[in-house]
Amino acid sequence: MRVLVLTGAGVSAESGIPTFRGKDGYWRNLDPAQLATPEAFARDPKLVWEWYRERRHRIRNAQPNAAHAAIANLAQHADEFLLVTQNVDDLHARAGLPKEKMVQIHGDIFVTKCSRCEFAYPGRGGSPEPPGASENDVDLPRCAACDALMRPGVVWFGEQLPWNELKRVESYLDGGACDLVMVAGTTATFGYIIDWAVRASRGGGELVEVNPEETPLSQFANRLVREPAAIALPRIVRQIVNL
Ligand code: OAD
Repeated sequence: MRVLVLTGAGVSAESGIPTFRGKDGYWRNLDPAQLATPEAFARDPKLVWEWYRERRHRIRNAQPNAAHAAIANLAQHADEFLLVTQNVDDLHARAGLPKEKMVQIHGDIFVTKCSRCEFAYPGRGGSPEPPGASENDVDLPRCAACDALMRPGVVWFGEQLPWNELKRVESYLDGGACDLVMVAGTTATFGYIIDWAVRASRGGGELVEVNPEETPLSQFANRLVREPAAIALPRIVRQIVNL
């Protein structure tokens, strides 16, 4: 069985990580233009870093939930598997999903990279950063190679998706039609999420959406599961694995 899973913030919601849109989402009270754009960083890098540090802290203290575990379980049982997540947290990885089966298309919040050159510190994932022991504790970290400001390794509004990660998605899609495409916990705001889901299921594969609410993807899905991901995914995966 060849499987593609696409996830968004809703999958981490039950781990206590806020989503972006919706009634408890970040974008309800905060302005993305002030926090998640290159212009915002140029204007007030300290404010942007404070927001990302607060989120890193929250993610470190969170645990993967039953939805992350179910996806890792599905990956183990599928012949071919790829997860494309828009989430910058590390909860899919901490649930046991190997890196080679996952693409973080919006980056990794634990990566700290140079805003000018290619220099980067790799993600530390959920491992603790002792106070004063890392570049992240410095108010505004600077690049060890070129002295420009360091920034979080995420994709901001108006930026290109990371080329290597895009290529990994494209080559998986080119590798053949999927039997199952599951899209969970995303508003599918970005057209590429819908494109990838539709393309992957084009050969007749089942396209399942797991989301309590309707999204622009819903009209393309064969099966709509209007439940929280941590409830629906373990059941759906159990059914597939026991076939
Ligand atoms: P959103 O916050 O836009 O959407 C979260 C989705 O999860 C909504 O459709 C909710 O209905 C759904 N949801 C909420 N709780 C859920 C649960 N327990 N189980 C299942 N679904 C649930 O998050 P994304 O679609 O991931 O990008 O947002 C996409 C991108 O927009 C993010 O990666 C970020 C953001 O701005 C950048 O910063 C570039």
